Amino acid sequence: MRAELRARKRGRTLTRPFYVDPAFHALDLEQIWYREWLFAGHDCELQKPGDYFTMQVGEYPIIVARGRDGAIRALHNSCRHRGSRVCSAERGSATRLVCPYHNWSYELDGRLLFARDMGQDFDRKQYGLRPVHCESSSGFIWICLAETAPDFAAFRARAEPYLGPHDLTLAKVAAQSTIVEEGNWKLVWENNRECYHCLPNHPELCRTYPEAPTVTGVENVVKDPLIHEHWRRLEAIGLPSRFELSADGQYRVTRSPLLRDAVSYTMTGKAAVTKPLSDKISEPNIGTMMMFHYPSTWNHMLGDHAVTFRVLPLGPMRTQVTTKWLVHRDAVEGVDYDVAELTLVWNATNDQDRRIVEENQRGICSPVFEPGPYSPVHEGGVMQFVEWYCAASERALDAAVSRPLPTRMSA
Ligand code: FES
Ligand SMILES: [Fe+2]
Repeated sequence: MRAELRARKRGRTLTRPFYVDPAFHALDLEQIWYREWLFAGHDCELQKPGDYFTMQVGEYPIIVARGRDGAIRALHNSCRHRGSRVCSAERGSATRLVCPYHNWSYELDGRLLFARDMGQDFDRKQYGLRPVHCESSSGFIWICLAETAPDFAAFRARAEPYLGPHDLTLAKVAAQSTIVEEGNWKLVWENNRECYHCLPNHPELCRTYPEAPTVTGVENVVKDPLIHEHWRRLEAIGLPSRFELSADGQYRVTRSPLLRDAVSYTMTGKAAVTKPLSDKISEPNIGTMMMFHYPSTWNHMLGDHAVTFRVLPLGPMRTQVTTKWLVHRDAVEGVDYDVAELTLVWNATNDQDRRIVEENQRGICSPVFEPGPYSPVHEGGVMQFVEWYCAASERALDAAVSRPLPTRMSA
């Protein structure tokens, strides 16, 4: 990988092994997915103590649960007896986490409470479920599998002023979908980071979402007069709006207007939900607040709802994308919104993107594939993603040289 990274030409796609090789994928897991902060789900999905959901990051099954004290924690979902997954359901509610194999029972914070007939000398304190770093910020739950997690405070400080006004802690998930795309996770991101493909592929989305490179990309945003006017108007009502990209390129927050007078991602551009998402924002036309955070999430916050996306790698050429539509907690289905209307545009767009990514993957699998040039006009966002990925991978490779291999890999 190091040789491929050194030899790569900027402004072109990565070389074939990055998209097809299982050994490269294993490095992506070690160097990116097991190291960075990842979006797990939303606080509002865990309303009461005992509510939990599970997820799988590479080899690691994880439980995210709200404890009796109200705090949200993440735990490794691997029993300390003989290793069974403790929770197999996708989500649920429990007073204790009880392993189905021999009924070892854990407190919601991971402490082992009960293990039958383990003998006099057995010390329960030694066998709690292992913790995973977990943070909650403006209604988003983040986890990190690394032993020492990277700094979270800088992201929190930058993103909370943008996300906070949308009040996602007081929202509810009105609908969700999980799809599997037969493509490498980086192809899913490359596709997400440009709208060069939008006009020919996304008739529904293009009714309201501007395909302008200043909206999706990272260059020339500040030169777009329409966006400037949008920022001026929204900052005047107390919504931070300006384009902000972290120094290392891992995350971005910004606001953008939708096309014409559209206020939501619907076929008409009208709101899909009559009750605004947030009690804190009375202005209906706020466009979209967009936040991406590599490698696991991109998001849109609108006046009437939010749509959030979680990316997880399932294999070298397989990626899971989970989409959630959030509305105000008090919005009533069938009265304030219709689920089919709420989800139409992004369900269609997700399916179109899935096909694009799968065709992209099939073509890259050809032995004649060689890196092609990105459009300097439309694909600045893709190049920015690739630069972040390459820099993050190089940093991790350098760090690996100076530390011993983890036991798991040296076996
Ligand atoms: S493996 Fe969990 S109780 Fe035995
Ligand atoms: Fe797309």
